[in-house]
Amino acid sequence: MLYLLITLILVPLHKTTSLNVTQNNVLLIIIDDLRHLSEETINLPNIKKIANKGVYFKNAFAQQAVCAPSRNSMLTGRRPDALRLYDFYSYWRDTVGNFTTLPQFFKENGFETYSVGKVFNPGPSSNFTDDYPLSWTHFPYHPSTDKYKDAAVCKDAITKKLQRNLICPVDVSGQPRKTLPDLESLKFAINILSNRNSSTPFFLAVGFHKPHIPLKFPKQYLDRVPINKVEPPKHPSMPRNMPLVAWHPWSDLRRRDDIARLNISFPLGLMPKDWSLKIRQSYYAAASYIDDLVGVLMSFVDRRKTIVVLTSDHGWSLGENGLWAKYSNFDVALKVPLIFSAPGIPTSVVHTPVELVDIFPTLVDLSGIAHNISKCHKNEKSRLCFEGKSLKSLMIDGSQKYGNYLAFSQYPRPSAFPQKTSDRPRLKDIKIMGYSVRTKRFRYTEWVSFNNKLFTMDWNIIYGLELYDHIVDSEESNNLYLVHKYKNIKQYLSGLLRSHFNRNNTHIN
Ligand SMILES: *[C@@H]1O[C@H](CO)[C@@H](O)[C@H](O)[C@H]1NC(C)=O
Ligand SMILES: *[C@@H]1O[C@H](CO)[C@@H](O)[C@H](O)[C@H]1NC(C)=O
Ligand SMILES: *[C@@H]1O[C@H](CO)[C@@H](O)[C@H](O)[C@H]1NC(C)=O
Ligand SMILES: *[C@@H]1O[C@H](CO)[C@@H](O)[C@H](O)[C@H]1NC(C)=O
Ligand SMILES: *[C@@H]1O[C@H](CO)[C@@H](O)[C@H](O)[C@H]1NC(C)=O
Ligand SMILES: *[C@@H]1O[C@H](CO)[C@@H](O)[C@H](O)[C@H]1NC(C)=O
Ligand SMILES: *[C@@H]1O[C@H](CO)[C@@H](O)[C@H](O)[C@H]1NC(C)=O
Repeated sequence: MLYLLITLILVPLHKTTSLNVTQNNVLLIIIDDLRHLSEETINLPNIKKIANKGVYFKNAFAQQAVCAPSRNSMLTGRRPDALRLYDFYSYWRDTVGNFTTLPQFFKENGFETYSVGKVFNPGPSSNFTDDYPLSWTHFPYHPSTDKYKDAAVCKDAITKKLQRNLICPVDVSGQPRKTLPDLESLKFAINILSNRNSSTPFFLAVGFHKPHIPLKFPKQYLDRVPINKVEPPKHPSMPRNMPLVAWHPWSDLRRRDDIARLNISFPLGLMPKDWSLKIRQSYYAAASYIDDLVGVLMSFVDRRKTIVVLTSDHGWSLGENGLWAKYSNFDVALKVPLIFSAPGIPTSVVHTPVELVDIFPTLVDLSGIAHNISKCHKNEKSRLCFEGKSLKSLMIDGSQKYGNYLAFSQYPRPSAFPQKTSDRPRLKDIKIMGYSVRTKRFRYTEWVSFNNKLFTMDWNIIYGLELYDHIVDSEESNNLYLVHKYKNIKQYLSGLLRSHFNRNNTHIN
């Protein structure tokens, strides 16, 4: 199929330079808001190609389903509680400690490190520099067309005007500078890969913006996802017996011009069915667009000398349980694609739950760089310790032996009843924290009182409890908290959850 990318990118031919590389390079691909897409839902052949030659984690979870907290957590190997970052507005080096990041570790060990596109969340949470110079050898690259990311460039089917729509298939040649941010990032990353002639190993992080909203993508990609092939969400309304604190009103979707027009009642109204299908179609089309870009990028990567990691910052609800976007503790909002491929690591599929905080220790382990880094202890102040774990032995020995891994996540709320700021509360407004644990079979969540000045939780003041059994309910559509036969498992999971998150002022300097 001839997609316009080929003509837009105009890449130089792949130059092979013979270098004395003894150390493998690292390529980290972060796709913004890409949820775990099951094969039945959509075909992403290029991502699948990486998975087919690597280790494909089918149950990988973010630590918090929103960009800045999740990215800082992934890139420092520490949980949101350790970074005290649940919103977008603080920088860990200023607030909690001078913690080493993943790219910084490689930089300090002789790698040339590059950031292309959205890797750290830009802005205050990375000191307005994407943590340059500590993390990066070169000044982080952002595409020049980023500034149009929210511009009124979506031709509306009804008004025929250019609007700020959610659904935004575009003709790229009619866009500002005749390009899109991810096409620019791809071109920049390819330039790095094909023009480097240093024998220094590299750590290259490439962050693609789509399928983050607005769902703006070259319109040809709609052809890949005909609307009559798009399935509605399996369970499109609020879960049975769900506490309202678990709900969020997806205000960022409601604000878009095309959705605002629908007058959906706030905060509990549901997306009309036809629009659910249209949004799903465009999300899949945007994901398919990024899949193509990943394919082009990978054609410039020497996989015999490169460790490749592909993931996302968190998942995205596509109408499941009546919800859209991220901002929750449900599986669809937390589950991400996670693929590792490394020279010498055999191909496998792993179903054991794992976490994004595991990426840092795993990459360090796979790189073979000598180190003394250990697991973080309570009140750990050391510059570098890990809250996650290396997945290397899991990759090599298979999943059976390590069946009891757990994935922990959390989400803050300003109030028990959903309001405008429930999606993304600022620290000063956070009153409740939803702590969640995922085992192979269950998801268990406690929404408890949270003190935003002392950073402590009170397990005795409870705003909601949830238990979902994935064997009978993979949609998490039926909260079993009150069901008697789950009494023991509930107690067991509550103990696990509390002992994991329990802490007093961890990481205070
Ligand atoms: C590669 O390694 C060989 C032997 O160690 C050395 O002689 C040569 O100069 C190196 N080449 C480069 C480009 O570093
Ligand atoms: C933080 O760590 C870096 C890297 O070791 C060091 O260069 C810098 O001086 C430290 N900053 C502070 C404030 O300690
Ligand atoms: C953060 O940015 C400020 C202002 O540019 C700068 O003075 C400070 O050194 C930066 N902090 C670090 C750790 O780089
Ligand atoms: C690679 O080497 C050539 C020739 O020495 C030089 O002109 C070019 O700038 C180098 N490329 C990079 C990215 O350093
Ligand atoms: C939404 O509300 C506006 C203003 O009350 C009204 O003009 C419009 O027809 C409504 N649209 C729908 C889809 O109900
Ligand atoms: C590990 O710690 C030991 C003892 O403190 C030290 O001698 C060694 O150099 C350290 N190794 C690395 C790679 O930091
Ligand atoms: C936290 O601090 C409070 C008050 O000082 C204390 O009662 C509680 O036992 C502490 N919890 C833990 C887990 O250390």
